[in-house]
Amino acid sequence: LPRLEIRTQALFHEYEITIGRGLLFEVGRISRDRLGKSSRRVALVSNQKIFSLYGPTIRQSLEARGFSVFSWLIGDGEGKKSLSTLAGVLQFLTKAELERSDAIVALGGGVVGDVAGFASAVYMRGVPLIQVPTTLLAQIDSSVGGKTGVNLAAGKNLVGSFHQPHAVVIDIDTLTTLPERELTAGWCECVKQGAVSTRKLFTETSDYLRRLTSQGSLLSPQLEQLIASHCAFKAAIVTGDERESPARRDSRSRKILNFGHTIAHALETVTGYQRFRHGEAVGYGMLVAGELSKNLGLLEGSELELLQQTIAMCGSLPFAGDLDENELMRAIEHDKKRNAGQTQWVLLARIGRPRIVNGSDIGPRLLRRSIRKVLQK
Ligand SMILES: NC(=O)c1ccc[n+]([C@@H]2O[C@H](COP(=O)([O-])OP(=O)(O)OC[C@H]3O[C@@H](n4cnc5c(N)ncnc54)[C@H](O)[C@@H]3O)[C@@H](O)[C@H]2O)c1
Repeated sequence: LPRLEIRTQALFHEYEITIGRGLLFEVGRISRDRLGKSSRRVALVSNQKIFSLYGPTIRQSLEARGFSVFSWLIGDGEGKKSLSTLAGVLQFLTKAELERSDAIVALGGGVVGDVAGFASAVYMRGVPLIQVPTTLLAQIDSSVGGKTGVNLAAGKNLVGSFHQPHAVVIDIDTLTTLPERELTAGWCECVKQGAVSTRKLFTETSDYLRRLTSQGSLLSPQLEQLIASHCAFKAAIVTGDERESPARRDSRSRKILNFGHTIAHALETVTGYQRFRHGEAVGYGMLVAGELSKNLGLLEGSELELLQQTIAMCGSLPFAGDLDENELMRAIEHDKKRNAGQTQWVLLARIGRPRIVNGSDIGPRLLRRSIRKVLQK
């Protein structure tokens, strides 16, 4: 089977991201290689839906390499990325008598990855983690970079830890069962990463989307290459700024990955996290950030058009024309208070050239106008 391997140099250790087809069958071999002989047990954390599709394959693959496998299923959805879910996982780990030389395998999307990752960061002050991401978003973004955590009632991702995995195993075959909306959300995140990385990655992404819209078949060697390019970009950013240094504002700080996120958070807040998948909200967020960039004289009109066309190829976004502009402005204001009184917007000077701009440099009038223009289309 063809596969691509990327080595990332995280601050504390190196790990491999293996990308290809049929890799679920190889999770046992890869885990054994990475964990060594002394590792005996694996805690497989997933949810019912994903486990019923892929759990048995992974279990067999691990057992064939001599691991005893204990599985724990968490509930589905963002609401389950909680402290009580974390407590359930930790209790399960003690019951399974997982030791420090053993490992947790996270099989699922970003929710499973973040919860299982956080459990692996804190259980016995840290046990090895193998990420097996099964959504497009998790494959290009959340499984790489070591951010783990859960939500609190007061907000998303408020508790967490940086904990790099021992390995990331990306089997693109798992994308074939992914619901359409999840793919759209994942593609939006790909466009986001493309837009703030290089024109090459952006073009690779939009070319792939164009081919997909005309031919329709998702899986191809080009998809492996594309996911590999995204992982390599994410890994490079993370290696250079593992903990998202608050003081950095340059075009390679981890903050640039927040392109589209100021508006995305506001959209998610005013709709009570019910209407949008996060990536869909990021789709709108990028359009608003693009509009702002153009109106501030940073971005050429033709670049904005390119961004708009590429986002349109990701799939259709939920209707947003009914949302109250004042409420959105209040949500942005609230976010600002939480960030020491300053919103830092990631805007674009060009595709592939992000620029961090202070909220105070964007007047409320311009912001309102840009929001209205995008949402009422
Ligand atoms: N740690 C990070 O760096 C980071 C980065 C970005 C996002 N995130 C987090 O990731 C989460 C979102 O992740 P997500 O978009 O993967 O959502 P998700 O984990 O909720 O998965 C989306 C849905 O798809 C289902 N699913 C997953 N894989 C499937 C498959 N192969 N076939 C069929 N169904 C499948 C899931 O059960 C779920 O219903 C958020 O909590 C976000 O905060 C973390």
